[in-house]
Amino acid sequence: MSKWNHRHILDLSAFSLEDYTSVLELANRFKSMPFTGARKLPALQGRLVATLFFEPSTRTRSSFELAAKRLSADVQSFSPKNSSLNKGESPLDTALTYVAMGADVLIVRHSSTGVPGQLARSFEHREKKIAILNGGDGLHSHPSQGLLDLFTLAKFFNPKNPLPKALKGKKIVIVGDILHSRVARSNIWALTACGADLVLCGPPSLLPEQFSNFVDKPPTGQKFDPIKQRGSISISRSLDDALKGADAVMTLRLQKERMSENLLTSLDRYHIDYGITHERLKCCEKQIPVLHPGPVNRGIEMSGAILDDQSICLVEEQVCNGIPIRMALLYLLAASESFE
Ligand code: CP
Repeated sequence: MSKWNHRHILDLSAFSLEDYTSVLELANRFKSMPFTGARKLPALQGRLVATLFFEPSTRTRSSFELAAKRLSADVQSFSPKNSSLNKGESPLDTALTYVAMGADVLIVRHSSTGVPGQLARSFEHREKKIAILNGGDGLHSHPSQGLLDLFTLAKFFNPKNPLPKALKGKKIVIVGDILHSRVARSNIWALTACGADLVLCGPPSLLPEQFSNFVDKPPTGQKFDPIKQRGSISISRSLDDALKGADAVMTLRLQKERMSENLLTSLDRYHIDYGITHERLKCCEKQIPVLHPGPVNRGIEMSGAILDDQSICLVEEQVCNGIPIRMALLYLLAASESFE
């Protein structure tokens, strides 16, 4: 395994191919281990992992907590509804409170873009050796979801050796509410890094043309792109056209809570134009897998029949893969020199 240089995991734009390889190799090892009963690995013994989710979550939070427990960490979970946030305490002071109780790793989810990064900078300024793992911030990034999606696809294309090269030259369609999706943004960084060619698909109100330039330069504050040659990105307004020759399709939840105006004429129309159904998949040249990060709006992004069809739909597999991927991230942070 190559040297791990990240103190925090905030985004995937700075990940090298070696980083992706390290995460996928470790996740594949963890996935093959039986964690039945009390069986655990000692990697995070004596460490405290706190999950600070200022926004709701089912999968990310539970699987991070399970991953931390399987590595023998102590785990503390925070519930914003019953917390002192309601008395005016800020996210930084909340995080500092958990650090004062001995937290070594904070998994942070927040509805505002940049909060995990701001916390990371505040802790560095205070010379506190805390690792921050972004559990999803605003429209910006959801790195662990991007990595578990990458792992799920790599495993589908090459079950015995699910590494980044399994994605090279594959045509992946990402369809839906890309504008409001941090998952789409993390997937775009991860999949193009591994050489996949992406077709982004959706109506102009949910997929502005600028997304075709998304990886042309690194985000503000990042000096260079560690990936020499990324896969291509194109935009399609027609899902039937996009699916021709595709190797996989990922559909995204319509994020009504982040839509400031009515961006769709109707949900029925959206399902007709962009929903995944068995009928629509007939236009593919072969049977392709369907992914969705969850939670799914049944009957909108995909039909209930697709969601329940285990021969096509990888949603359950994505959830399962979230645990070994998050174990790998926690393990790599704990193993990094900057963590000591
Ligand atoms: N995919 C995802 O982030 O799901 P949760 O909101 O349930 O964590």
